[in-house]
Amino acid sequence: MSRVAVLAGGQSLERQVSLRSGARVRAALERLSHEVIAIDVGPDLVDQLADTEPDVAFVALHGRDGEDGTVQEILELMGVPYTASGPSACIRCMDKVLTKHTLRDAGLPTPEFYAFSQTAFDSLGAGRALPAIEERLEFPVVVKPAAQGSALGIRFAPTAADVPAAIVAAFSYDTKVLLERHVAGRDLAVSVIDGVDGPEALPIVEAIPRDGDHYDFEARYEIGRTDFVCPADLEKQTTQRAQALAVAAYRALGCYGFARVDLMLESDGIGLTVLEANAIPGLTETSLLPQAVEAAGVSFTAFVERVLNLALARAPA
Ligand SMILES: Nc1ncnc2c1ncn2[C@@H]1O[C@H](COP(=O)(O)OP(=O)(O)O)[C@@H](O)[C@H]1O
Ligand SMILES: [Mg+2]
Repeated sequence: MSRVAVLAGGQSLERQVSLRSGARVRAALERLSHEVIAIDVGPDLVDQLADTEPDVAFVALHGRDGEDGTVQEILELMGVPYTASGPSACIRCMDKVLTKHTLRDAGLPTPEFYAFSQTAFDSLGAGRALPAIEERLEFPVVVKPAAQGSALGIRFAPTAADVPAAIVAAFSYDTKVLLERHVAGRDLAVSVIDGVDGPEALPIVEAIPRDGDHYDFEARYEIGRTDFVCPADLEKQTTQRAQALAVAAYRALGCYGFARVDLMLESDGIGLTVLEANAIPGLTETSLLPQAVEAAGVSFTAFVERVLNLALARAPA
């Protein structure tokens, strides 16, 4: 039995999802008879950790601060073992531009893209390079902020005329944006968990948008606008290739414990390409990783126990 601090909430736009992830993790820890300390992450985080002296922390934060390595740095400093990836993998996963460079450097497929910062736009005239970018990527393109989740700020731009407004929208979420080739195809999420023989991919979840929502990415996250199928209806070979790609991405990004890799199966039914990885994916009743865990025949409680043991097993830095 351990004293487990469950870190949830925080100040990111994904606070509400995090609170639900945290509640579910707490219930599982209680079923496992661990002592649970619930911490809503805020300015008193260090004090709370110092006062409560947990044996281990379960990080159930999503988005900024929690998923981007900041809280992990603090936990390292405080000498508290914690679940899932360390700071460097969190930093790589939180920034889609860095994720894509890392994947590309590792020889893994990710859609072609160009990224620029607000500074490049404001002070270096990057806007004037847009036609060249657009020519190379071909339309339609997808415009997205480098950091963010839940499809916030992601826009589909069918023509050049749609790009400026999409960029302005993306800049309202982050100071760095990317223009990415649009991939027509199927949306797959592959969760990866570390096991005794290294990382293993779980059954694939396919997100299937209902009619009319194909290009409104934000709407897909509204309840009832998307159907989730797990295991995805794919040929065995395709499933295995997607799972192998997800594990390769997980390794290239340096993830630990668990993570979820979002990829696309191109409309030719053959090409696979990685969009992003989530270092701390949602853990709510309706989240994709828990669906995959269940489809693998593992209870959520057993998953929590495994992740906690992995945190305790990680050698201190
Ligand atoms: N290049 C792209 N081509 C086609 N669809 C995309 C592309 N980028 C994002 N999408 C759609 O938007 C969703 C969210 O994008 P993603 O890059 O996973 O960001 P996040 O999940 O962090 O918001 C994807 O699951 C996919 O449906
Ligand atoms: Mg995603």
